[in-house]
Parts: sequence; C-alpha cells; structure tokens
Amino acid sequence: MSSSRVALITGASAGLGEQFAQLFARDGFDLILTARGLPRLEAVAQRLAHHKVKVHLISEDLSQPGGARRLFAAVQERGLAVHTLVNNAGFGSFGDFLDLPLEKEVEMLNLNCVALLELSHLFGAQMRAHKEGRILNVASTAAFQPGPYMATYYATKAFVLSFSEGLAHELRDSGVTVR
Ligand SMILES: NC(=O)c1ccc[n+]([C@@H]2O[C@H](COP(=O)([O-])OP(=O)(O)OC[C@H]3O[C@@H](n4cnc5c(N)ncnc54)[C@H](OP(=O)(O)O)[C@@H]3O)[C@@H](O)[C@H]2O)c1
Repeated sequence: MSSSRVALITGASAGLGEQFAQLFARDGFDLILTARGLPRLEAVAQRLAHHKVKVHLISEDLSQPGGARRLFAAVQERGLAVHTLVNNAGFGSFGDFLDLPLEKEVEMLNLNCVALLELSHLFGAQMRAHKEGRILNVASTAAFQPGPYMATYYATKAFVLSFSEGLAHELRDSGVTVR
C-alpha cells in the first residue's frame, strides 16, 4: 500500500469535482479521479500536473449495477489506500415526474444514492480498520425541502444528508469523519 495520503473523488472531470481535485492536490494528496469519460479526466490531470502529486484515473459508470464495486476493486488492484473519499458525482433532471424517462430517474437514484452508499461502505470499512479517514458526501440545499419538478433530485439529496449525518454519528469515535 502507498504511504501517501490519497483522495478519491467521484465526478472529478467537471464542475465541483475538478475543484475538489485542485484543492486536494494543493494540499499534497495523491488523487484517484473517476468519472465515465476518460478524455475529460485526462484534461483535468493535465491541469493538475504542476502540483507534482500522483494522479490515477479510473473510468467507471457509477449509475450502473456493480459500478461502485468495480471502482473499489480497481483501487485495490492499484494498491492504493484511500484516506479521503469525496462522493461528488451526481445529476438532476427537471420536469413533471410522470413525463420524465423512468430509466433516467432510476439512474439518478443509483448514482446519487446507491453508489454513494456502496462506496461509503466499502471504503469506510477500510478507514475504520485504519482508525483514520474522511468521507465527504456532496448533498445540496435541495436536501432541506421537497422540490416539485425536480422531485427525484431533491429526494436523493435528502437521502445523502440524512445518511451522512447518521453515519457520522455511528463513526464518531472511530477516527473516521463523515460530512
Ligand atoms: N452545480 C451546482 O450548482 C450544485 C449545487 C448543489 C449540489 N451540487 C452537487 O454537486 C455535485 C457535482 O455537481 P456539478 O454541478 O459539479 O456536476 P457536473 O459539472 O455536471 O459534473 C458531474 C461529474 O460527475 C460525472 N458523472 C456524471 N454521471 C456519472 C456516472 N453515471 N458515473 C460516474 N460519474 C458520473 C461527470 O463525468 P462523466 O459525464 O464523464 O461521467 C462529471 O465529472 C453533484 O452531486 C450535484 O448534485 C451541485
């Protein structure tokens, strides 16, 4: 296992995810960056090059069954111990719920909630064993109230907030923090 501190950031090829990557690189973390598309991840890695940290890129679709487990296995294969997990990947849709494609709404639940839960479980267990770790689950102000015409998205973020607060309490004496 590497002795450097490693941060794993999901949805790291754009938006907030790239900003997290820049911040962790500035703080000297080696990085595991993941998203579906490799070209945009490679572009982010180029923009991080001046930080002189190691950057590992893993392409995975976390909305698909088994995606989180495949990502976990890929990290293990590289011999990396994740110190900080940033569950950032997520998306929303807008419109009348009954008129939105059902498949996309289910993908949203899978990405925003199920993959976040699975990665928290898989990496959280390792962190607890090491008595050190950080999990940052990206929710939204949408977590605090229902959102008509974005009903699924708001509900997923309510899940993220509730789950994270519950897990944070469970792990309060473990050396692992959850936010
Ligand atoms: N932007 C805001 O104003 C805002 C406000 C509150 C909360 N948030 C939350 O912050 C997080 C990031 O939002 P953002 O606006 O920065 O997102 P974004 O710019 O749309 O970027 C999304 C990232 O997630 C990846 N991604 C999307 N679908 C994926 C999938 N199925 N599997 C794996 N990776 C996937 C994307 O790369 P690929 O497309 O290549 O997979 C990309 O790297 C989300 O959880 C969002 O709900 C955002």
